[in-house]
Amino acid sequence: MNNNIQDRLSEFKGKVKDADAQDVIRLAFEQFGSRVSFASSLGEEDQVITDMIAKAAPGIEIFTLDTGRLHQETYDLLAKNQKRYRLRFKTYFPDPKAVEDMVAKKGINLFYESIENRKLCCRIRKVEPLRRALADMDAWMTGLRRAQSSDRGQTDVVEWDADHQKIKVNPLAFWSLEDVRRYIAENKVDINELHSKGFVSIGCAPCTRAIKPGEDIRAGRWWWEDAQKKECGLHNNPHRPKAGS
Ligand code: ADX
Ligand code: SF4
Repeated sequence: MNNNIQDRLSEFKGKVKDADAQDVIRLAFEQFGSRVSFASSLGEEDQVITDMIAKAAPGIEIFTLDTGRLHQETYDLLAKNQKRYRLRFKTYFPDPKAVEDMVAKKGINLFYESIENRKLCCRIRKVEPLRRALADMDAWMTGLRRAQSSDRGQTDVVEWDADHQKIKVNPLAFWSLEDVRRYIAENKVDINELHSKGFVSIGCAPCTRAIKPGEDIRAGRWWWEDAQKKECGLHNNPHRPKAGS
């Protein structure tokens, strides 16, 4: 991390100390201007943040990584957002050649066959487009919360994302799912129709399913895999030692 960005990170951490989520968003825009953007997967947390951006910092770009395998209901929600809010929505697609080669070599539903295949698909369809989305940014914002999984248990409102060499801002880091749902109800925020069908955490269609009451909120993601491996590479836990270290 170079000194300049280190200074900006400490300065921003100081500014947002004790700020509520909407203020964190406002201050992020004040600090980084067009060099901060928000990654929205159209999840409940992301819908809360989108609503707050509309109220506090409408200049922030909101981007979605369209893997090509999202649910129709997710696209419907994106279209609803585009009608309801006059904001800067952007969509990033994977490199077509990389997808074509992957599918030719490994098949269209390669992800069910091995963890390596699943990670390859996530890398081509999500991680590489994210790298492009962040190329001109100093900071990015996400809907990550500590309570989403044990792996995310140390998420902070402001942290250093060593993988992408960017400042990462997670305004809802300390919110519970109940806090998220209260905000949604009080502010009449639109959510994905799949939530009423038992879906909680929603990713790509072939890799997400509904969960039963009492199941872990990420149990419906890559359900055939071991719980420890359920990250797609967008968010590598900065507190977890890398394999081999
Ligand atoms: S994932 O890594 O397992 O896919 P999850 O679905 O919990 O992540 O989402 C966590 C946060 O990552 C979201 O709040 C959002 O900020 C970002 N994110 C995940 N998927 C996307 C996507 N397809 N497009 C943009 N942002 C995303
Ligand atoms: Fe591919 Fe599934 Fe990852 Fe989506 S979640 S990019 S379909 S492996």
